[in-house]
Amino acid sequence: MIYDLIIIGGGPGGYHAAERAGHAGLNVLLIEKSSLGGVCLNEGCIPSKSLLYSAKIADNARAGKRFGVVAENVTLDHKTVISRKNRVVKALISGVFMKMKQNNVTVVMGEGMITGRTSDGFFNVKVQDVVYTSRKLLIATGSVSSMPPIPGLDKGYQNGFVLTNREILDIQHVPERLAIIGGGVIGMEMASYFNSAGSKVTVIEMLDHIGGFLDGEISSILYSNYKKKGIDFILSAKVTSIKDGEVTYETGEETKSVQADKVLASIGRKPYVDNLGLETVGVEVHNGRIKTDEFLRTNVPGIYACGDVNGIMMLAHTACREAEVCINHILGKQDKMRYHAIPSVIYTSPEVAFVGDTAESAAEKGLEVETVKLPLAYCGRYVAENVGGDGIVKIITDKREGVVLGVHMIGSYASEIIYGAAIMVENRMRVEDVRQIVFPHPTVCEVIKEAMFEFRDCYSG
Ligand code: FAD
Ligand code: NAI
Repeated sequence: MIYDLIIIGGGPGGYHAAERAGHAGLNVLLIEKSSLGGVCLNEGCIPSKSLLYSAKIADNARAGKRFGVVAENVTLDHKTVISRKNRVVKALISGVFMKMKQNNVTVVMGEGMITGRTSDGFFNVKVQDVVYTSRKLLIATGSVSSMPPIPGLDKGYQNGFVLTNREILDIQHVPERLAIIGGGVIGMEMASYFNSAGSKVTVIEMLDHIGGFLDGEISSILYSNYKKKGIDFILSAKVTSIKDGEVTYETGEETKSVQADKVLASIGRKPYVDNLGLETVGVEVHNGRIKTDEFLRTNVPGIYACGDVNGIMMLAHTACREAEVCINHILGKQDKMRYHAIPSVIYTSPEVAFVGDTAESAAEKGLEVETVKLPLAYCGRYVAENVGGDGIVKIITDKREGVVLGVHMIGSYASEIIYGAAIMVENRMRVEDVRQIVFPHPTVCEVIKEAMFEFRDCYSG
């Protein structure tokens, strides 16, 4: 039997592509070597957000007095948090299996390896001893944690002193002292949870700020919120070695160490292209990632790659959108991938969310921009629900046309509000267009409408 499409990798990119392709009537085989749902469902997005929600409830209970709700001796029962997380993951994985069934997708559990072509030019993929054949191939093998050659890192990982996201999201005991290498997205989310769960958290970050590409001011607000909660930061510090109980870093000319009971390595992720047999069909790998075009095509006609494996923007919703574009291309439907309006969220407390350009990135593109910044305290709901909250929104527009180029927020509900902003950026909406939209009251998203009236009026013509 020849499948229309074989997909290797059952994470968000792979299973979403399978669902769309199956729904369109293609004969699809999905191969997954570990657990359907990929990193996102098993050891990423969902487990981390499940933990963070428990932390949010604990934090709110502890801060309840200010709102007239008194709860004494609030504790976070980490073991229960983990078992609840496991139930959430299990339920969602069975949901993915159900979707595959509903869309007539055949799922094979095992490691897929491309072994070349048939004499008719179809693609062969081997799982254990069985060879499957297809007209088209989609590689959606995702990514793994980067483990750079820092002396002691690998040994620490082997003996359980160093953890990656996979292990820390399953850890049964809250470490007394947790050192986190990397103040990027995983580092910030895990610092937030383990701080609420009672660890003494120290984040060691190579850059002079946290949150990588975040707007500078928003990064500073997040930093000061974390400092107030008791998280320690060592910035402009590069971790250079690890030994049991100790992480050593260089800062300027100095070499120093922090003591820890566990270490989280959150130093970035790299596309997973090992043991795939890419060379048998000639798929090129550039700088460790499979290069794709706007239709998610690789250099080999008929072979596509979506999600983390192409290393463009390692987010689950990017993987899903890429999957849709790829399947539409296979079906001959008009569609292409655009990356300029993909929202990002850091699910910390306070939440951070952004989409599109910062003032700096727009200026680098040669655009003349106008920026408006407002405190979220302009919204009644924000004031009603926060005591002394320092959330803000920043909106970047193109000075000439008033087109919304970017929206950056920190504060409650930012994660839910940002999709509205993504619609504005994606559709190149102008200040004037957004002014005419009715926002519900009282909500925190009203701040976006409020900000639109802070821009000049001259765009309206
Ligand atoms: P993956 O999810 O990595 O799935 C790839 C799958 O391919 C895996 O299941 C793997 O087992 C399988 N596979 C690999 N090789 C083979 C083979 N040869 N044969 C068969 N199967 C194979 N993104 C967000 O958008 N929001 C978040 O909140 C978020 N939180 C995150 C938190 C953490 C801690 C981490 C680590 C990541 C998070 N991400 C988040 C990123 C998100 O998880 C990834 O962008 C997303 O999972 C990528 O989907 P994917 O399908 O490309 O790959
Ligand atoms: P990251 O790239 O966000 O952060 C890694 C950080 O480690 C960087 O700030 C870097 O400067 C620092 N670093 C590297 N080497 C170092 C060293 N030797 N010493 C000190 N600091 C060092 O990567 P992270 O946090 O591992 O996340 C990987 C990816 O997972 C993210 O880029 C994102 O795509 C995805 N993710 C998304 C989430 C979300 O959408 N909410 C949540 C978690 C992960």
